[in-house]
Amino acid sequence: MEPILYEKNSKCIDISTEFCGIKFPNPFVLASGPPTAYGTMIKRAFDMGWGGAVLKTLKPDNMNIVDVKPRFNVIRGNHGEIVGFQNIELVSKRPLTIWLKEIEEIKIQYPNRILIGSIMAEADKKEWQELAKKVADSGVDALELNFSCPHGMPEMGVGAAIGQNAKMTSELTEWVKQVVNIPVIVKLTPNVTDIISIAKAAQNGGADGISAINTVQCLIGINLDTMEPLPSVDGYSTYGGYSGLAVKPIGLRAVSQIAKSINLPIFGIGGISSWEHAVEYMLLGASAVQVCTAVMIEGYDIIINFIEGLERYMRNKNIKKITEIKGKSLNRIKDHSALSIVKKVVQINNKLCIQCGKCVKVCGDAGYDALKFKNGQLVVDAEKCDGCSLCTIICPKRALTL
Ligand SMILES: Cc1cc2nc3c(=O)[nH]c(=O)nc-3n(C[C@H](O)[C@H](O)[C@H](O)COP(=O)(O)O)c2cc1C
Repeated sequence: MEPILYEKNSKCIDISTEFCGIKFPNPFVLASGPPTAYGTMIKRAFDMGWGGAVLKTLKPDNMNIVDVKPRFNVIRGNHGEIVGFQNIELVSKRPLTIWLKEIEEIKIQYPNRILIGSIMAEADKKEWQELAKKVADSGVDALELNFSCPHGMPEMGVGAAIGQNAKMTSELTEWVKQVVNIPVIVKLTPNVTDIISIAKAAQNGGADGISAINTVQCLIGINLDTMEPLPSVDGYSTYGGYSGLAVKPIGLRAVSQIAKSINLPIFGIGGISSWEHAVEYMLLGASAVQVCTAVMIEGYDIIINFIEGLERYMRNKNIKKITEIKGKSLNRIKDHSALSIVKKVVQINNKLCIQCGKCVKVCGDAGYDALKFKNGQLVVDAEKCDGCSLCTIICPKRALTL
């Protein structure tokens, strides 16, 4: 019997969502990666309440994949929390035949959860079409074309090497569309000058939906003692893919640009670690979201907070359906020249101010020298203040507002 955690919620709020005509019980989907590396793992995630899962990218058996060790490294915040995550992991190493069997099993056991087959093959029509057909025939609800892995795979002419080329994006999407009759979603890389042109190329190739973003190409750091780049694989490293909270602003930018430019459903991906982040993506046009790194850091059970938080938000705002959220903030993203230039001056709440002097220092050193202490009180020179907001961000007590 399939557990249905998400149904213990309030009756009048419907957190189901539709993507390419497929109904998801909730908008929270596991992104392709370590959390979807085995069928047994995906079943456990479904038991916890995840609405869908994109399989760790599958490839033809003749494509040889060997992962290096170690293959992860992180950037931490002041309290030890992980804010950015680098990986140099490749696609799934597991044989296709085993995966195809697991897909069938999962769909029989969890018919209402959505399973998306992520695929990648050499840039060869026959290879892509054979792989796409096999995975589609095994019973997945949709395919996601991985045109976006930024490390390792582009050296073999695949992954981001495809998604950085509009012509190839369009052509390869067309190849897959010719042989399957389930929705085809193209997963885009943020490592391009203009993501809109690539999203349009996918649409021209017949894509039914877009996933954005895959990881951001990066080099996470150097060990100062050994002078080895990280993650150090016996003294050497390579450019990797950055994910987690740090990339959320890049994902939000990409999703909103795509949502403004084309009319395809979008999976918002990148740095989602809370239900609030998911709502941000949906407000910018995503129909559903995918999560990878947050699950690698916290585990599958974050889904419980995600569902409860989303429901609470919808209840408080009197929102009954996800479609009422989708894209609501999009028309508030404008050209810079269209934004207000009304003068604003910082307001000081001296009751909250602890006189640490941080605001005075940064306003003097990197602002407009508008803040001073006078007779034991923080004061602003309204003439000098340019309303840049630096002091409001630096103040540890939120004593300053615009
Ligand atoms: C260790 C790791 C492995 C990943 N493997 C894949 C993969 O096989 N296929 C794919 O399309 N994306 C892969 N991704 C990218 C994620 O699906 C996702 O697009 C990206 O990490 C951004 O989302 P996040 O910040 O929630 O992790 C991987 C990410 C990580 C961290």
